[in-house]
Amino acid sequence: MLEINKFDRIIVANWKLNGSIHFIEQYLQELNCSKLENSNNCGIICTPSVYFHKLVGRLNPLFLGGQDCSNYSEGAYTGEVSATMLKDASCQFCIIGHSERRQIFGQSNEDVCIKAMNLIANNINPIICIGETFEEKNQNLTKDIIYTQISKSVPKNATKDFVIIAYEPIWAIGTGKIPSLEEIDNIHSFIKNEIQNIENYKILYGGSVNSNNASEIMDLKNVDGVLVGGASLDALEYKKIMNS
Ligand code: 13P
Repeated sequence: MLEINKFDRIIVANWKLNGSIHFIEQYLQELNCSKLENSNNCGIICTPSVYFHKLVGRLNPLFLGGQDCSNYSEGAYTGEVSATMLKDASCQFCIIGHSERRQIFGQSNEDVCIKAMNLIANNINPIICIGETFEEKNQNLTKDIIYTQISKSVPKNATKDFVIIAYEPIWAIGTGKIPSLEEIDNIHSFIKNEIQNIENYKILYGGSVNSNNASEIMDLKNVDGVLVGGASLDALEYKKIMNS
């Protein structure tokens, strides 16, 4: 598994359910990986798994990531993709527990914990997503929700050397609304300093990140990088964020 401590910033592109072979060819041309400036940043491109083979060997120095993995290793589970298969397909990182998987596909914290263990067993670095809804934020429940999500979905054998946590307030995803910089730093500080066994983990912020706001977010003391959805579908925009 990759030691993540050596990187200054981690910048993850989450393509979600987007892309095509044609799109990938254009994206790679525009991204021009060999010209990326800051080699201390860790760039990870998370694509639908059917396209991994189109990106393998063409992303260096960036890494390839998945968007979910099965709770199961093999067997009669139609439509699933296991952590072993992700590894076999050269996937180095994998997002798990994204709010879209939790809300639309009913994944629980317990599921996320199993997935994280499967990934770790296959030497894939998990990126574990957490975050509150707008209603929960308004009821001042953000820290409680996050505490429960982390306590239940980060497995006991995880360490800060190879597991990443991504804080994505659900109300900020795809909406153009983001918490204030102070709020982001405050929540990240809470995660880094006040949750037992999670001290000093790398914490990414996600939700409406783009090239205009990425730099001020990443400059915050307790932010170690960003998880980018919509803006990451534009190669030049992603490149700007990588270089910011
Ligand atoms: P947007 O950047 O489109 O808000 O999406 C964030 C996200 O869900 C990344 O995982």
